[in-house]
Amino acid sequence: MKKNIVLVGFMATGKTSAANALAEELNIKPVEIDKLIEEKEGKTIDEIFKEKGEVYFRQVEKEIVKQVSQKPYVPYAVISAGGGVVLDEENIRNLEKNGVLICLEAEPEVILERAKKETSRPLLKVENVMERIKKLLEKRMPFYRKIRLSINTTDLTVEQVVEEIKKIYSQNG
Ligand code: S3P
Repeated sequence: MKKNIVLVGFMATGKTSAANALAEELNIKPVEIDKLIEEKEGKTIDEIFKEKGEVYFRQVEKEIVKQVSQKPYVPYAVISAGGGVVLDEENIRNLEKNGVLICLEAEPEVILERAKKETSRPLLKVENVMERIKKLLEKRMPFYRKIRLSINTTDLTVEQVVEEIKKIYSQNG
């Protein structure tokens, strides 16, 4: 069986858009971990954060990551993970079992622009969004750096990101 393509990386670096475009082009299943969390809980990510807190969200996220990592998608799937998935070592180990992890990156300015279009991210619901992005990026950088394969999407269109992913996957899949 072929390995899954697993897109990780900070919020608004283009994981979901790339995953959907890639899935359509390759005719494979797009699996969005955040969507599975929402389905399991019957609530939006925002509601889970508000009503149950981040610690609870991370527990459910970890459970879903484990399930997804064990599932034999035929022929393979493109999985997009929320920005915090890589903060947990075990999540990385699970996803690596049957997947090629690729970390998408982008400059903070681009993250801000893209994030403005999507207002549902609980961690970015603050007055100074740029400050929050920079702080979180700084804190999380060591975790994103652990992922060997990466693409900087700052100046790329979704189509270009898809091409890059295909190239990297063909060399590492
Ligand atoms: C999070 C990223 C979000 C979502 C949740 C927490 C994070 O996913 O999982 O709001 O901790 O970075 P996206 O990266 O798809 O925005």
